[in-house]
Amino acid sequence: MVTPFDTRPAVDSLPGSKIREVANAGMGRGDVLAFWFGESDEVTPPAVREAAQASLQAGETFYSHNLGLPELREALAAYTAALHQPVGVDRIAVTSSGVSALMLAQQLLLSPGDEVVAIVPVWPNLTAQPQILGASVRRVSLRPDALGRWVLDLGELLAAITPRTRALLVNSPNNPTGWSMTRAEQSAVLAHCRRTGTWVLADEVYERMWFGPGEDGCAGCAPSFLDVAQEDARWWFVCLPSGSPGAGFAGPGQAAVAGPRPGLGARGGLR
Ligand SMILES: Cc1ncc(COP(=O)(O)O)c(C=O)c1O
Repeated sequence: MVTPFDTRPAVDSLPGSKIREVANAGMGRGDVLAFWFGESDEVTPPAVREAAQASLQAGETFYSHNLGLPELREALAAYTAALHQPVGVDRIAVTSSGVSALMLAQQLLLSPGDEVVAIVPVWPNLTAQPQILGASVRRVSLRPDALGRWVLDLGELLAAITPRTRALLVNSPNNPTGWSMTRAEQSAVLAHCRRTGTWVLADEVYERMWFGPGEDGCAGCAPSFLDVAQEDARWWFVCLPSGSPGAGFAGPGQAAVAGPRPGLGARGGLR
């Protein structure tokens, strides 16, 4: 029976966030260090705060382009090209946060009843989003090796991705383990997903939190699907570094997602 207060079972059945539980208990306490959210303890740099204030003072408070300010998207395309292979401006969309970018991508891809595969453990929002959309999540676990480093069993992952798999969710560098997918693993995953027709949704918000050696010419950032994906490929979405997790300072919320032209660019005209 439908009552006026019914909410969707897919949302009601989601477990509460442990991160939020810890944060709610600790926020405002001087004797507890705030390690709960992925944000710096540094205040947002003056240049960013001043630009936001100047924009408000200038009255820039009106609706703008759906996919983000053209000059911001151009700057993001140039930033991305400096780290990876070029990504056209028409493949970039700006959102109000990383979590919105990921939800937007999953809303574009998933229908109720779809199956996604996720590499876990992972920041729980990433796997809650498909559940909210009515998709089921099949989990492939990272495991610690003899030295305690998290490793992926690539064979197990590829076996889990079948033609029934609508999307693969990869967060690398990974929250919470720090595990990162190698360039060779990315190439193998991409080739496999092309065969099965599976989208790759890569959450790479922590790509600049990379202290390892540059891999295959990629210095100062982790191996990225943006390095191995071909311009013509339909099958990938990448969440670029967002305000807090990616840039290393708190707010203001802003993120971007790079995706295929037909999937993303064409949505600029939607209301
Ligand atoms: C792996 C991962 N992806 C995405 C996000 C979302 O970032 P935002 O705060 O910009 O929504 C976070 C935030 O903690 C994260 O840990």
